[in-house]
Amino acid sequence: MQDFSERKREVPSDFDAIAPTYDLLTGMNPGYHRHLRMSAGRLGAKPDGTILDLCCGTGISTEAVQEVYPRAQIVGLDASRGMLEVAKKKALLRGVRFVHGDAMDVRAAGLTERFDGILMAYGLRNVPDPDTCLVRLRDLLVPGARLAIHEYSVAGSRRSRLVWDAVCWGIIIPGGAITARTTKIYRYLHESVRRFDSVRMLEQRLRRAGFVDVRTEPMDGWQRGILHTFLATRP
Ligand SMILES: C[S@@+](CC[C@H](N)C(=O)[O-])C[C@H]1O[C@@H](n2cnc3c(N)ncnc32)[C@H](O)[C@@H]1O
Repeated sequence: MQDFSERKREVPSDFDAIAPTYDLLTGMNPGYHRHLRMSAGRLGAKPDGTILDLCCGTGISTEAVQEVYPRAQIVGLDASRGMLEVAKKKALLRGVRFVHGDAMDVRAAGLTERFDGILMAYGLRNVPDPDTCLVRLRDLLVPGARLAIHEYSVAGSRRSRLVWDAVCWGIIIPGGAITARTTKIYRYLHESVRRFDSVRMLEQRLRRAGFVDVRTEPMDGWQRGILHTFLATRP
């Protein structure tokens, strides 16, 4: 059987397959855009700073960063060329620099600058080695700047796991079958969230990676207790 961290290497190509319909399905998720704006705001970056939207996908999280920081220089990085193609076509995002690369090694993608903030929305869960990734992200930040991980975490709460199972099997997986005619990445979404860190484990992981002022902020709606903003500062 395939090891789950090996399975993660297929994720960007799975996203290529659903890129044309990604915005349609996420648009049906109440709060999707607003919650991303909340995480972007919680990042607390310098208004005219340089902000990295890591695992930017089709640019929905990039739009959130741009709305909150209209004067910032924004860089979006993703490993799926299909998702990036959709992002690059968005007129609203004309000022954003989009880069193809792996979140595990942002420097290898040619980004040499330090960032005044990094938003990683639905990204950390998908990288094969989150500990190494976090240490590298810490080093990409200007001292005093923050990382915001916008991510699902349901481990450790029976209620959260039950809601997550119901939303995935009742809405997201059938929605993927209808819009994208494939359920592969949506079944992976369900499983990867179930296997991902609890809130406490991710906070510990962030501290181990050398971040300080680590804290978690909740979301509202059905996502309460399921989706969170994890905030961490580079000392
Ligand atoms: C669920 S989408 C999130 C997109 C966007 N942040 C949003 O909020 O809508 C996850 C994205 O992570 C990207 N991704 C997964 N693994 C990656 C990796 N190792 N490096 C860079 N991007 C990756 C996928 O290609 C996909 O576009």
